[in-house]
Amino acid sequence: MEIRLVDVEVVRPLRHTVLRPGATWDESVYPVDHLDDTLHLAVYDGDAVIGTATVFAEAQEERPGWRLRGMAVAEGRRGEGIGSQLLSEVLDQVQSRGADLLWCNARTEALSFYTRHGFTIVGEEFLAAHGVPHYLALLPLG
Ligand SMILES: CC(C)(COP(=O)(O)OP(=O)(O)OC[C@H]1O[C@@H](n2cnc3c(N)ncnc32)[C@H](O)[C@@H]1OP(=O)(O)O)[C@@H](O)C(=O)NCCC(=O)NCCS
Repeated sequence: MEIRLVDVEVVRPLRHTVLRPGATWDESVYPVDHLDDTLHLAVYDGDAVIGTATVFAEAQEERPGWRLRGMAVAEGRRGEGIGSQLLSEVLDQVQSRGADLLWCNARTEALSFYTRHGFTIVGEEFLAAHGVPHYLALLPLG
């Protein structure tokens, strides 16, 4: 297993399949996908992409930080620690760029993954535009 920084087109298929099943292909595009500072990470098992994440600079309220999106591990490979290794690599990447906050809108069904890794859940549950329940999750760094 190997984690690499990749082009957005490498992460799109798994992101789409896991996080936007049944949606149009365009609905798995993020506005930041092609920005210079946006990082896309892929977990490879041989030639197969089995995990993805995207992270980019975005303030949370007025607090500078990096936002994590598109965390996805292939169905059938979850619970093996792949997401944890991917998150660890995301943390290395953003900390080496001086981040002192990582945050995400965490799916309610994945909340335990984030709290186990030290994120604090803030505020009330909300529905994202695609109708899935989420909470704001913050991980101060440094
Ligand atoms: C959330 C996700 C990225 C975690 O990756 P992972 O490789 O399964 O995680 P790890 O093996 O490192 O950690 C295990 C955690 O994943 C969850 N998990 C374990 N087996 C699982 C399974 N078969 N299906 C879904 N989640 C599972 C558990 O919540 C577990 O957390 P816990 O130990 O606190 O209970 C992954 O389960 C996933 O892609 N889920 C579907 C998409 C999703 O919800 N993404 C997050 C969007 S905010």
